[in-house]
Amino acid sequence: MTSTFVTVGVVGLGTMGAGIAECFARAGISVIGVEAGPEALARGRGHLEDSTGRALAKGRLTEAARAEILGRVTLTTSLEDLADADLVIEAVPEVMDFKRAVFTDLDRICKPSAVLATNTSSLSITAIAATTTRPGRVIGMHFFNPAPVMKLIEVIHTMVTDEGLAEEVADLARRLGKTPVTVGDRAGFVVNRLLLPYLNHAAVLLESGLAGRDDIDTAMRLGAGLPMGPFALLDLIGLDTSYEVLSVLFQESRDRRHAPAPILRERISAGLLGRKAGGGFYGPGEHADTSGT
Ligand code: 3HC
Repeated sequence: MTSTFVTVGVVGLGTMGAGIAECFARAGISVIGVEAGPEALARGRGHLEDSTGRALAKGRLTEAARAEILGRVTLTTSLEDLADADLVIEAVPEVMDFKRAVFTDLDRICKPSAVLATNTSSLSITAIAATTTRPGRVIGMHFFNPAPVMKLIEVIHTMVTDEGLAEEVADLARRLGKTPVTVGDRAGFVVNRLLLPYLNHAAVLLESGLAGRDDIDTAMRLGAGLPMGPFALLDLIGLDTSYEVLSVLFQESRDRRHAPAPILRERISAGLLGRKAGGGFYGPGEHADTSGT
């Protein structure tokens, strides 16, 4: 029953969290967005304003519709404001200790019937659920970047998820205009389990000197029909997030195809994390030519 979810909370308003909040607000659902402090909250507001501003500039939204969407999002630095939320989606960085701390707090604060969801890319939902007193009400709801645009949501259930909850969350995904797929709890789920080894392999090929960045990206766009080449996509996802997902896949599989390419670590150490940091494999301003055809 989709009407179960009237008020939704989103914890973490980085690229993904802000995009997720926008998806709910666009579907007419009230959202409470939570960030750790005033600066992060201002950045989150900036993401929402930029994204809806882009739609306004393209004539996809009217000024009034944009104001309505933004008006549905309440921003706060207090998790306590989520006490009455029906569903909370956690979208903090991919570090298990951060996730566990958030879930411990949410479990204490949120009403017992609330569903606690994580947007984790690869971490164990079962392990996250086990930190709460309501493991049956914990689920994965995995969005893709850019969240307002990408049509898929992976709904991830564990062996202790309440019966029927995955279908309720899948219905909610449909209400957002997305297509849900239901997946079991294994590192990377479906998309990242298949996508990240490919992106990693592109980095290995670049390092080996087989071809240059632009030629690899062009080859995969025009030869494989992908909307973006692997380096443009690594920059969009974030090199740090990609590295973390690969590390989890490698830990689970010990398959060397999942061992993060050294060039990823090197760039991360240099602060070249991707678009969000102003540069990754591409520098600032270079991306306009790398997506689409
Ligand atoms: N936020 C909001 N809207 C955005 C956006 C953003 N960051 N980026 C693009 N858009 C919108 C544009 O406004 C435009 O909307 P419109 O059609 O209503 O005008 C639409 O998306 C298309 O954008 P553009 O015309 O500017 O550019 P493209 O046609 O090149 O599309 C793209 C951009 C949608 C990003 C496309 O290149 C694409 O699909 N790339 C692949 C993305 C992908 O694979 N994402 C998944 C990554 S894996 C992941 O996220 C999992 C995680 O766990 C790691």
